[in-house]
Amino acid sequence: TAHPYFAQALIRWYEHHKRSLPWRDTTDPYFIWLSEVILQQTRVAQGLPYYQRFAETYPTVQHLAAAPQDEVLRLWQGLGYYSRARNMHHTAQQVVTEFNGNFPNTFEGLIKLKGVGSYTAAAIAAFAYKEKVAVLDGNVFRVLARVFGISDDIAASSSRKVFQELADELVPADAPDTYNQAIMEFGAIQCTPLMPDCMFCPLQQRCFAFNHGMVQELPVKSKA
Ligand code: ADE
Repeated sequence: TAHPYFAQALIRWYEHHKRSLPWRDTTDPYFIWLSEVILQQTRVAQGLPYYQRFAETYPTVQHLAAAPQDEVLRLWQGLGYYSRARNMHHTAQQVVTEFNGNFPNTFEGLIKLKGVGSYTAAAIAAFAYKEKVAVLDGNVFRVLARVFGISDDIAASSSRKVFQELADELVPADAPDTYNQAIMEFGAIQCTPLMPDCMFCPLQQRCFAFNHGMVQELPVKSKA
């Protein structure tokens, strides 16, 4: 693993600062998938009650698959992007009919599911199965851009490879699940877009952006 100090510092920070969230207390790929689908364009505070409602109403993927679509859409009310709810329902049915109710247990298998992109596949693979893959979301892009001084435009699709290669190298083999939660949480709470808490940051001395006065300039993002 490249830069072993990086993962170690983030995990240590995470143990002290993490929010207690229900999908972090499970390795069931169904609940992890459910949480990631709900949280895709939604803040944690808004998504949390929806997650709880879905997890209670549909305690297994079989329950969700068997539910009437109008009931699923009713539970989704207020979250918007109803295609997400329809895709979610469809994927549940696909997992039941094609995989006997078992989510595929690798990134490559997961990404073939409808509505499961590279972000969600990596999240399930890392959190449920401890696969050594990096989860890349806006928070992760920002942390990597700042700490390692990457000025590639995060809105350009060509940049993805640059970030993914670095990100994959940083994942510690012994804790891909904790590490991926840690870097996402670090971006959400500490290394925030507007007012990052650099004064109390465990990576301050090793942060390219901090050391070069470029915290406001990184990450580079061309379009909204
Ligand atoms: N947003 C998306 N996925 C998340 C997760 N696993 N934990 C916290 N916030 C998230």
